[in-house]
Amino acid sequence: ADDGYRLWLKYDLIPDAGLRKDYQKAAGVIVSKGSTPILKTAAGELQQGLQGLLGQSVPVVSASKKGQGTITLAVDATANVSGQPLGKDGYSISTRSGNIVVTGQSESGVLYGAFALLRQMQTRQSLKDLALTSSPRIQYRLLNHWDNPNGTVERGYAGSSIWKWYELPERLDPRYQDYARANASIGINGVVINNVNASARYLTPEYIEKVAALAGVMRPYGIRVYMSVLWAAPKVIGGLSTSDPLDPKVKQWWTDRTNEIYKAIPDFGGFLVKANSEGEPGPQDYGRDHADGANMLADALGQHDGLVMWRAFVYKANSNGDRFKEAYQEFKPLDGRFKPKTLVQVKNGPIDFQSREPFHPLFGAMPRTPLVLEVQITQEYLGFATHLVYLAPMFKETLDADTYANGQGSTVAKVVDGSVDKHAISGIAGVANIGSDRNWTGHPMGQANWYAFGRLAWDHTLSAQAIAEEWTRLTLTTEPRAVRTIADVLVRSRDIYVRYTTPLGLHHIMGQSIHYGPEPWLASSARPDWTAVYYHKADAAGLGFDRTEKGSNALSLYRPEVQRQWQDPKTCPPDYLLWFHHVGWNQQLSTGRTLWNELCTRYYTGADSVTWMQQQWAAVQPQIDPELHADITGRLQTQRKEALWWRDACVLYFQTHARQPIPAPFAPPA
Ligand code: GCU
Repeated sequence: ADDGYRLWLKYDLIPDAGLRKDYQKAAGVIVSKGSTPILKTAAGELQQGLQGLLGQSVPVVSASKKGQGTITLAVDATANVSGQPLGKDGYSISTRSGNIVVTGQSESGVLYGAFALLRQMQTRQSLKDLALTSSPRIQYRLLNHWDNPNGTVERGYAGSSIWKWYELPERLDPRYQDYARANASIGINGVVINNVNASARYLTPEYIEKVAALAGVMRPYGIRVYMSVLWAAPKVIGGLSTSDPLDPKVKQWWTDRTNEIYKAIPDFGGFLVKANSEGEPGPQDYGRDHADGANMLADALGQHDGLVMWRAFVYKANSNGDRFKEAYQEFKPLDGRFKPKTLVQVKNGPIDFQSREPFHPLFGAMPRTPLVLEVQITQEYLGFATHLVYLAPMFKETLDADTYANGQGSTVAKVVDGSVDKHAISGIAGVANIGSDRNWTGHPMGQANWYAFGRLAWDHTLSAQAIAEEWTRLTLTTEPRAVRTIADVLVRSRDIYVRYTTPLGLHHIMGQSIHYGPEPWLASSARPDWTAVYYHKADAAGLGFDRTEKGSNALSLYRPEVQRQWQDPKTCPPDYLLWFHHVGWNQQLSTGRTLWNELCTRYYTGADSVTWMQQQWAAVQPQIDPELHADITGRLQTQRKEALWWRDACVLYFQTHARQPIPAPFAPPA
């Protein structure tokens, strides 16, 4: 039975004997040009994969004999395929006189090439005349764990944290290495190990030693560890009376901590900071700004090769403006003030990881600052681990959005990869959906989201469809019809989820604090911008948040070309309509229906599409491991039940404002 532990690194024996023979001939021995730890990992991973796929052990030898199918692994900074030089950490795989040569621009490049070669076999591609080349478009490809020292995970839905702090540094759970393998196989090269709502504890000698032990497991996989830090740490654990970034004692404290960390972890990646956000302390507590804070940490990092990633997820308590605009207003004026190796980390959208958001207006608005795109892989607002929602279409929607910052084609992806503003450093972060559950992600299909994040971080031009097919082949089945069916379900699933929860640009109408299920009626909370009515603004006239110049004018934060797409309710794409407009219930939409009818149509057809997903899943049953199939079948039943819950709760609530009957054919029988 398949318990999901092996993720996409399955390496089961290839059943087709003919194909296996071809591969066996090609993979007789491995010659590794070098024996550094990462090259050793590459050879070891190849051996392990080939053993499983081909049922043969493939020795690593110093030189091969003639006629032995040889896989050579080598670092070659000048390597290229058809004249295309490789970028940093890029790889090429080619066939030379019948043998396979995997070259990397760096050792990590070789490792990525080794995994790519295995993927060729896992997906049953030919090994003849290979000429593959690939380089990552974004340099820092990071997972952000929101894991706490007590073993809980903020917004984690797959058990508790995989880090067992009380056992570290003495015991290294074998799982850490499996985690590193999985990440390296998709090109992830950094992990922030703890929650952005950070405990100061990680900066104590006791914990630095524990983090160093984890770093030791990650290092041979080309993965560096990073930490989230609590701004108030100098006060909380340092015995100082202040955490003012301009105070010399505070600066010295951070410099000392940083030096201590680098002594234990020479390749430490750097710091991630959530400051003056949702009650977290920060430099503003001392009348300083975000740049003062980030620059002080950059100085503390000094000559060490580390980054500061400063989050832009900020909004003030009891704001009576529009939360949509707040990060922009705080950060845009700081553009140009951040020191080198300081990046500002921006969520994909302006509110908070909703199921669909317009791209964050900061993208394209801070040309002098490298921006890290932060997406959420864990499904905080997308059904936790019970709803099957494949997130690549959502990630792509942001990546492909055009900011027009530097003329047409200045997509968010190109802002983030540094090509629009010619930045030397670039980064992308995904909030991890990984926990201690045997299958890592709770919902087995959640693995596809981890996978897709890594693949898009590597190459944002890949399509959501191609990644879905690839993941399905590696993980579930290679039978072509089943692959097509499953990929189809995956690719449509996010849109289906949006329809039965927050269609037409509705947002933030979920259950309070746990962020699950519907609660559109929520009218009071600790702060107004945590209520649902703040966002949907339903009244007798209509529905939606007016962000045009008649309303909050958040639209004005975008370039004129972008404004034009969204500013007229008649031409605004329906998917974004209620993000920007308060629309009359009887207003005719571009779909030909009135707002009320369209809203009902989307809730009803969305919920019914879950039945379609169930049917598709039932149809592939013969091709799927029975235990895994049953697991997902059960979750889809819950998803259907909860889709009806969302539909009925929202339609009935909005009906109290619209005061119209539910249209046929959806109206319940009288
Ligand atoms: C959301 C989430 C919080 C998290 C925050 C953040 O608001 O609900 O749990 O801490 O995002 O990204 O900092």
